Amino acid sequence: MTETKVISDAEQLLESLDKLPEPVVKPAFIVASGLPGTGKSYFCRRLAERIPVIILESDAMRKTLFSSPAYSAVESARLFQAIHHLIEQLLKKGVSVVLDATNLAEKNRERLYHIAYQLNAKLILVRIEAPPEVVQERLRNRAEGTVSEEDHSEADWAVFQKMRTSVQKINRNHFAVDTSRDIAPVLNKIVREVNR
Ligand SMILES: Nc1ncnc2c1ncn2[C@@H]1O[C@H](COP(=O)(O)OP(=O)(O)O)[C@@H](O)[C@H]1O
Ligand SMILES: [Mg+2]
Repeated sequence: MTETKVISDAEQLLESLDKLPEPVVKPAFIVASGLPGTGKSYFCRRLAERIPVIILESDAMRKTLFSSPAYSAVESARLFQAIHHLIEQLLKKGVSVVLDATNLAEKNRERLYHIAYQLNAKLILVRIEAPPEVVQERLRNRAEGTVSEEDHSEADWAVFQKMRTSVQKINRNHFAVDTSRDIAPVLNKIVREVNR
């Protein structure tokens, strides 16, 4: 992947975004992590109602770069190079970012920690979970197409089960959110952390 390609991909992603929030002196970089159907996108949207952030949703961005995604390793590598570049640009400008992606591997998260460190952003990690039976029901609804058009994910129960084996423990302080329960208390804590 040439640097030029990464930059033009990132530009295309930037153009696909809604209006950016006002810059701040010390932006926050909030990283969601969780399997498909655990409620990452739901949680990120609730959070964005409370603080000025831009959501970078990997499922939506994949479709911006690839009109019929293959979810291959090559495709993901190109997607995340562009996303990383975009995150750097936004944080540099002082725009707070929420990354809505599975972020299951510590190696992939390390890259994000490094970006936050280099750009002096406030890094907040959030592990999103829900009981498997709840996830299964949600993914069944997704497959039946009974969910909103806001849903950019194509992952089903089979994908969930396959990805389950690649979950790696988060080795840093983080918030844990169970989206099958009331998320308000932890949401409040995270908002307080961002505003601290
Ligand atoms: N706390 C919640 N309350 C009600 N519905 C939820 C909640 N969390 C997730 N959902 C619903 O479950 C489905 C899957 O959640 P989603 O956020 O799309 O998961 P992910 O982004 O992790 O794949 C969506 O239809 C979403 O609206
Ligand atoms: Mg999602």
